Amino acid sequence: MKGIKWVVEDSVEKEVWWPSEELKRRAWVNDPSIYEEADKDPVAFWEARAREGLEWFKSWDKAYEEDLPYYKWFIGGKINASYNAVDRHVKAGKGNKPAIIWVPEPPEEPSRVITYQQLKDEVCRFANVLKKLGVKKGDRVGIYLPLIPEVHIAILACTRIGAVHSVVFSAFSGESLRVRLEDAEAKVLITADGYYRRGKIVNLKANADEGIKDTKVEKIVVVKRAGNEVNMVEGRDFWWHELMKDAAPHCDPEPMDSEDMMFLLYTSGTTGRPKGVIHTTGGYLTQAYWTTRWVFDIHDDDIYWCTSDIGWITGHTYLCYGPLLNCATLILYEGSPDYPQIDRWWEIIEKYKVTIFYTAPTAIRMFVRAGDEWPKKHDLSTLRLLGTVGEPIDRETWLWYFNNIGGGRCPITDTWWQTETGGTLMMSLPGIGPFMPTVSGRPFPGTRNAIVDEEGNPSPQGGYLVLVPPMPPGMLRGLYKADDKYRETYWSRYPKRYYFTGDGARDVINEHAPHIKEKGKIKHFIRVTGRVDDVMKVAGHRLSTAELEDAFNRHPAVTETAVVPQPDPMKGEVPVAYVVLKSGYRGSEELSKELVEHISKTVGPIAKPKQIFFVDELPKTRSGKIMRRILKALLTKDKIGDTSTLVNPDVVENLKKIVGYPD
Ligand code: PRX
Repeated sequence: MKGIKWVVEDSVEKEVWWPSEELKRRAWVNDPSIYEEADKDPVAFWEARAREGLEWFKSWDKAYEEDLPYYKWFIGGKINASYNAVDRHVKAGKGNKPAIIWVPEPPEEPSRVITYQQLKDEVCRFANVLKKLGVKKGDRVGIYLPLIPEVHIAILACTRIGAVHSVVFSAFSGESLRVRLEDAEAKVLITADGYYRRGKIVNLKANADEGIKDTKVEKIVVVKRAGNEVNMVEGRDFWWHELMKDAAPHCDPEPMDSEDMMFLLYTSGTTGRPKGVIHTTGGYLTQAYWTTRWVFDIHDDDIYWCTSDIGWITGHTYLCYGPLLNCATLILYEGSPDYPQIDRWWEIIEKYKVTIFYTAPTAIRMFVRAGDEWPKKHDLSTLRLLGTVGEPIDRETWLWYFNNIGGGRCPITDTWWQTETGGTLMMSLPGIGPFMPTVSGRPFPGTRNAIVDEEGNPSPQGGYLVLVPPMPPGMLRGLYKADDKYRETYWSRYPKRYYFTGDGARDVINEHAPHIKEKGKIKHFIRVTGRVDDVMKVAGHRLSTAELEDAFNRHPAVTETAVVPQPDPMKGEVPVAYVVLKSGYRGSEELSKELVEHISKTVGPIAKPKQIFFVDELPKTRSGKIMRRILKALLTKDKIGDTSTLVNPDVVENLKKIVGYPD
């Protein structure tokens, strides 16, 4: 296999790949001693990074303060996100550099290039529009937009005036939008008429209209993208282009306190309602800037493409802030990877000479299935670095990506992180390596993690992944209007000691890769094995079982539901539901279809259950807790285990029959 160094260890072939001399030479960081150096004093490390990478209106008085579970970075410092993402580069003479190359889905529609100068003008104009609509510093603004340049403009315009943006994934339903807008108490929503998805126009405005019901949204700004017929309410709804016509291209950036709230991003937790993750300004920007620079080794001549939707944290940090803070040129593609055919992404890479490509394992799995012939049709030789994110990647998918997309020469950096961490926290750096299928790597310099057991003792052979203080600067500062939930979710397991990630992990250095220890100066080399709580990763998207159960239970036929993830070769995991019906209802194929549709409508198409089992009863403990372990084992055909703590052990036999569990 080209490029991979096969290392034979204990008679087992192990794939380990080290960066070439050329990669090392070009890389911003290529000396492994960076890890040790940074670890001696993480606060001093980040302080130096914040000073070097960003322009502050006023320096901080103190770099870090901690009283766990709370912590602050760059206290007293003043900074503005949009100023650092655009103005700074224009001032430095980079105004003509393309910031965004927008690729619409319809292949016949021309792409649009937006330079840093144009981006700055548009951001200022829209910032003035927001002001005119009455948006003030600290106000929350909902953004429900597809992948069009206006999404970047809207986001940066918010941060320019100190408004808090709350972006909602455009494929989420109106109801999902509503719940988020309601919690954030947003007063303005920015959306579009529609967008293209697999050649069809999705009417986004219709969802938006549903999404503002019973919320505090007073005004909607609508981008005309697809030209579809939409309902515009006089005095409430305004066309983006009309508001922008008279707006001035100058707006002073608001000097924000480093710890001022910059954005909210809702994510699924272990409860029925999504949680608003709070990110603040100075620390988030510092981590976004430096992780983008070092992890993607971004240089002035790179063409960078992150395929995430803007509605996820990956979209915020690595499709918007990170690359723009680094004055990079980014690709923004509106549509589906398989339209008009399954090689659309490879065509884009070839056409725009993409050099850095960052995507999710679930997408790669789809391409593996489609076959090697598709990427072969295209010249992908401009690529020099690949990344993955969002879920564990299996060996076969990793190798396919490495060989068929990376041509056996590009490192794959497997970036582990979460909505809560703001930026990636674990990976192998491109100029240092090594790169190994299924292994994420080691903590980013200046950050610490550990694998521990229930008591918090080291458990490298398998345990919970925790973050060790000092907390990285980009970490969440809390959950919006839900402080109890914040303490409980992340800090109740190891109070005042560790941040609990909700992930399981294993240190593979002694077991799989002892030979790399010395060469890479590596102490730990970590494989993330997946969530240990009731959070699912479906095609890389984060969903909570409780959120889906809630949605099921709102259907008139349903009395109770248990949703569990089932391993899936394509999507990683898929939701399967055990549903108890109200009396008078009978399970049928029709009802099953209706429920799938109901979930698609209320939560979004990504949450569609793979299968629904109609059952009479769910297995429960004496305290009334559903025993999910059993429901999972029934699906995976694993051992059912002890059922003695159930109040209704008989139910298991019935369930076995329903799911076809082997005797
Ligand atoms: O389980 C981990 C998984 O995704 C979770 C975080 O999901 P979300 O907040 O949606 O953010 C996804 C994008 C950062 C984590 O708790 N995860 C993320 N990256 C990886 C991963 N699992 C394994 N390997 C990764 N590289």
